[in-house]
Amino acid sequence: MHTVQVALADRSYPIYIGDGLLAHGKLLAQHLPQNRVALITDTTVAALYLDKVAEALGAACVSVTKVVVPTGERHKDWHNLNAVFETLLANHCERKTTLVALGGGVIGDLAGFAAATYLRGVPYIQLPTTLLAQVDSSVGGKTAINHPRGKNMIGAFYQPLAVIADTATLKTLPDRELSAGLAEVIKYGLIRDPAFFAWLESNIDALIGREPAALAYAISRSCENKAEVVAADEREESGTRALLNLGHTFGHAIETGLGYGTWLHGEAVAAGTVMAARLSQHLGLIGAPEVARVAALLERARLPVNAPDLGVERYLQLMGMDKKVEGGRMRFILLRAIGSALLTAEVSRDALAAVLATPVAHA
Ligand code: NAD
Ligand code: GLY
Repeated sequence: MHTVQVALADRSYPIYIGDGLLAHGKLLAQHLPQNRVALITDTTVAALYLDKVAEALGAACVSVTKVVVPTGERHKDWHNLNAVFETLLANHCERKTTLVALGGGVIGDLAGFAAATYLRGVPYIQLPTTLLAQVDSSVGGKTAINHPRGKNMIGAFYQPLAVIADTATLKTLPDRELSAGLAEVIKYGLIRDPAFFAWLESNIDALIGREPAALAYAISRSCENKAEVVAADEREESGTRALLNLGHTFGHAIETGLGYGTWLHGEAVAAGTVMAARLSQHLGLIGAPEVARVAALLERARLPVNAPDLGVERYLQLMGMDKKVEGGRMRFILLRAIGSALLTAEVSRDALAAVLATPVAHA
């Protein structure tokens, strides 16, 4: 087992990464303020892992209330948040009852937001079961639900007590979901870790082939990067954490524009990352060889590199909802090299329209 620490003073916590960790109930139980949890998951993950986790916790003398919501991005909404609250209230879950999110980023975000608001805030623990959740969404305390007008529009910064990433769960993950997670892995290389980007170029086939050692390294290195960024800028105030949003302004527009769940989050981020690279090239920050390098790695990870054709005006409307908008101005994460990014509002409408209008796939 490898442990990465997220250093946030009194809100610091460990990320445990290892094979078979879900079977070790005591690893989770040691973090509980009360020997009681509400285990929140989706229907797909419930069929695979809910009983196993509940049994492991039972063996560690923890009582479990099970909460199962429908699978999928379009269910990360008020309706299912309220369904979670209904079950917690009906079962008299208390202020020291810990919510445990078992699943991908949808469950992590939904359960995390439930924890931030139920009884004005209860503890929670993340058990991420997708690559995307193990490398990104379970770490850092961003919790949210979607609004029909925009992704992750309603939420809170609220840190978990611990993250337990069992890499064995990736064995059941569909190929498309594995690739979606790789989009966020590649992101860390692009924004701040050129050596990691080069390692990914050499090892992308091993990752697609699910070689355990390659996956374990990619997850650990991603979590180390994320933990450093979150420790430097927990609430996205200085601009450091915003860099984790490379490709996301475009990506969130794709997800909302097509309807939640049509493209996976990681797929939308991949195409959005190429758009961000092309915008960086348009502004003279990087050259065509760098853009080609970005697109080549994403393609080798079996991710889309051409965005759907939503129309320039619709893109601009959707991107205007971005949480980074400040004083009415959109702000973008751009690349100034492979491994170095910046946040800027200095992007003309013409440059943006040029990127949004040039070759894209049909939705
Ligand atoms: P997801 O939670 O929908 O999981 C993807 C699919 O895989 C689902 O169908 C799920 O049921 C299934 N699944 C999960 N684990 C499995 C397993 N081990 N075996 C088989 N199937 C499994 O999606 P995701 O890609 O994990 O997360 C995307 C979400 O994360 C988006 O809502 C995005 O906005 C959010 N996100 C949040 C942050 C953050 O910092 N909070 C960061 C990145 C992404
Ligand atoms: N996934 C972006 C962030 O955590 O800030």
